[in-house]
Amino acid sequence: MTDEKLEVMLTAEQIGNRIRELAAQISKDYQGKNPLLIGVLKGAVIFLSDLIRQIEVPVEIDFMAVSSYGVDTDSSGVVRILKDLEQSIQGKDVLIVEDIVDTGLTLNYLRENLITRQPKTLKVITLLDKPDRRKVPFEPDYCGFIIPDRFVIGYGLDYGEDYRHLADLCILNP
Ligand code: IMP
Repeated sequence: MTDEKLEVMLTAEQIGNRIRELAAQISKDYQGKNPLLIGVLKGAVIFLSDLIRQIEVPVEIDFMAVSSYGVDTDSSGVVRILKDLEQSIQGKDVLIVEDIVDTGLTLNYLRENLITRQPKTLKVITLLDKPDRRKVPFEPDYCGFIIPDRFVIGYGLDYGEDYRHLADLCILNP
């Protein structure tokens, strides 16, 4: 890494190893089922695409986009659906796939919203969790890594739409 502002927190290899473990757990928990994985755009795209290729039960995918931080690193507290699902989730085993849980506002809102659509089951997997920053109580069902309260980028996560392409997860130093 040549950029002085970037410090590696998790290497691509560490992330890949953990995703294999998560996928094995999901394959076991959803044995005989056909879960619908809902990726939260845009940050979860890389995690979702790596995860589904390791899962050994047939899955479907769909995407939602919700309003997020914009170019600031602080949460506005306002969640808005920018892109909704293309299908009904009634009676389905739904797994929301998120990049990071920070304040918990986004997933808290998404879970409440999707529950009203009557899925058979609804769970959440996040690659990263920053529990120190919670504004509302939220526990993911599956979590890749619990991380300290640092702003991270790479592996799909951005700062002002930059850095998503980095293979490692990095801390963005001011
Ligand atoms: P929450 O609603 O505060 O839990 O925020 C969730 C969303 O905020 C994530 O899906 C990310 O888009 C964004 N976010 C939170 N923390 C970070 C970070 O450290 N780096 C990049 N994006 C973040």
